Amino acid sequence: MNAPIKKIVLPVAGLGTRFLPATKAIPKEMLPVLDRPLIQYAVEEALEAGIEDIILVTGRNKQVMEDHFDHAYELEKILQEKGKEEALEISRSMLLEEGRISYVRQMRPLGLGHAIWCARKLVNGHPFAVALPDDLIKGKPGALKQMVEAYNELGGNLVATMDVAKEDTSKYGVITPGARKGKNIEVKGLVEKPHPEDAPSTQAVVGRYILQPEVMAYLEEKAVGAGGEIQLTDAMAKLIGEQPFHALEFEGRRFDCGSKLGWLMANLSMAAEDPYLASKLKELITFQ
Ligand code: UTP
Repeated sequence: MNAPIKKIVLPVAGLGTRFLPATKAIPKEMLPVLDRPLIQYAVEEALEAGIEDIILVTGRNKQVMEDHFDHAYELEKILQEKGKEEALEISRSMLLEEGRISYVRQMRPLGLGHAIWCARKLVNGHPFAVALPDDLIKGKPGALKQMVEAYNELGGNLVATMDVAKEDTSKYGVITPGARKGKNIEVKGLVEKPHPEDAPSTQAVVGRYILQPEVMAYLEEKAVGAGGEIQLTDAMAKLIGEQPFHALEFEGRRFDCGSKLGWLMANLSMAAEDPYLASKLKELITFQ
């Protein structure tokens, strides 16, 4: 029986340079897609997957996320006085039981791998999930639930993958695939941002992972990889051969909301599901 996944690490300490100046004073993870900030989608997806402990790895200028998951007393009082019950309900919808969200600070943005390592004391020797909130995935069920279900069967380590165009492999971590069973693919190797000519496949890793705690020992080495950053991919690659390692080609659509195009597409895709917004969008497109 595989140890259940009850913890998730959400790294939110990146600089978000691709979204400047919007991300100068507010974190990228607080950019809204329609009416909810990216971080809220990630937490909702984790809760849907049965995950109980949410660990945010934050950095400078990120305090607003702590406020997002707390009471807004002044706002709640005013809404109550005005009898705006629905708005009050929405404002309170992200209040988890106290103690279920923890925050740890990455003091220098040294890379995704370093951010995960900063959570080692809170992960405390348990297997854990990771989600990058700027990778918004629309899926039914959500991508994390799909991952947890696959992990319960396979154990070990798991990355979410999708098939990308060969020329795009240099933007992702890419797997060397082994045997495939349905949506599950054995992982024989992992390489970060390979040149398309050198890419071992077109199965690209997106921001959902389930990892065994042993990855922390490799992250502790703080080896600098692609882009001069401490890469999660490099530490994960060292687990291959030591522990089971699979990819899950998840079902759903992923939007890279750290890029303007991905964020715009995510908004349009969400709006298309709302009959009123969809009709207004259609009007706008027809008139232009
Ligand atoms: P990105 O590669 O998107 O980097 O990080 P970034 O700095 O956030 O954005 P750009 O590229 O400058 O526009 C992927 C994930 O890893 C986190 C980010 O917050 C994001 O969730 N991250 C990255 C950290 O927490 N710390 C880091 O040092 C780097």
